[in-house]
Amino acid sequence: MSFTAVPQARLRLNRSTLAVPGSRAEFFEKAARSVADVVFIDLEDSVAPDEKDKARKNAVAALNEIDWGRKTVAVRINGLDTPYMYRDLVDVVEQGGGRLDMIMMPKVGTAADVYAVDMLVTQIEQAKGWTRCIGLELIIESALGLANIESVAAASKRTEVLHLGVADLAASLRARTTGMGGANPGYTVLTDKRADGRRDTHWADPWHYALARLVVAARANGLRPIDGPFGDFTDADGYRAAASRAAALGCDGKWAIHPSQIEMANAEFTPPKADVDQARRILDAMAKAQKEGKGAVSLDGKMIDAASIRQAEAVVKKSELIEAGGASASGMRHAG
Ligand code: GLV
Ligand code: MG
Repeated sequence: MSFTAVPQARLRLNRSTLAVPGSRAEFFEKAARSVADVVFIDLEDSVAPDEKDKARKNAVAALNEIDWGRKTVAVRINGLDTPYMYRDLVDVVEQGGGRLDMIMMPKVGTAADVYAVDMLVTQIEQAKGWTRCIGLELIIESALGLANIESVAAASKRTEVLHLGVADLAASLRARTTGMGGANPGYTVLTDKRADGRRDTHWADPWHYALARLVVAARANGLRPIDGPFGDFTDADGYRAAASRAAALGCDGKWAIHPSQIEMANAEFTPPKADVDQARRILDAMAKAQKEGKGAVSLDGKMIDAASIRQAEAVVKKSELIEAGGASASGMRHAG
């Protein structure tokens, strides 16, 4: 390990992040009773301009009146370049901050964006005399945000999550797609000609670079990397494949923009029992090896060593967090 320790953000179960438009208060109770690990009430892109005030009031009422149980509850405020953002932040935190776990910031471009929100939230918390610390989750969804991702990720001790917002990112990059996540028929690789002259077309993942970049920046700063929306909620297989890719790369979870996607996210981001069993076998084998003074041994014909312990511990820890049912105060890197 480096001599530089990476303090970890507060530990929370974050397999599914359910988006609920703030203007649709009739959906809130259902969201609270859903099996989503995290729910965010959206004041931004799913809310029309003339409904912004109503959505903000709905969010405050929902924070105060709905029983969210042990769920993590967040509110997505409007962007820092809009006339809605300051009131979103002040009203939601001042009036609903008692139950608010995290503020989701869209279209973060620079570390200064995060600094500004941190400063305002800090002032409100101090004025209220609160000792608990509201977290920040940042959506990386612009060329600027992706280019500055390292400094953005390190900008505030409140930050817990980096999300990849594929829809806005595609728009910002001028990528040729109108879909929200998923594959793109224009992004393929053509194999060389075979003997019979035929060639195969392989679809590639257009989001791979951005997601891998985000996972690295998040983990280097002790944050949770979360994959964003998959727009075609009629394509369950496509959603599962995208979630599985994200989990394989290291993400903790994915958005659900429709209730039908919640359970798929929970399943894809729960380590399979076979993996957890295998991780426990690796830990047992390495414990035995260490007693015998060995640094590396073979298990089922494969070499394992101290790095295998760390991999196995990550799998077991994740599974234990899921069994424990979610949020925990441990791993907090900021005091209240
Ligand atoms: C999410 O906000 C996105 O733009 O994908
Ligand atoms: Mg967006």
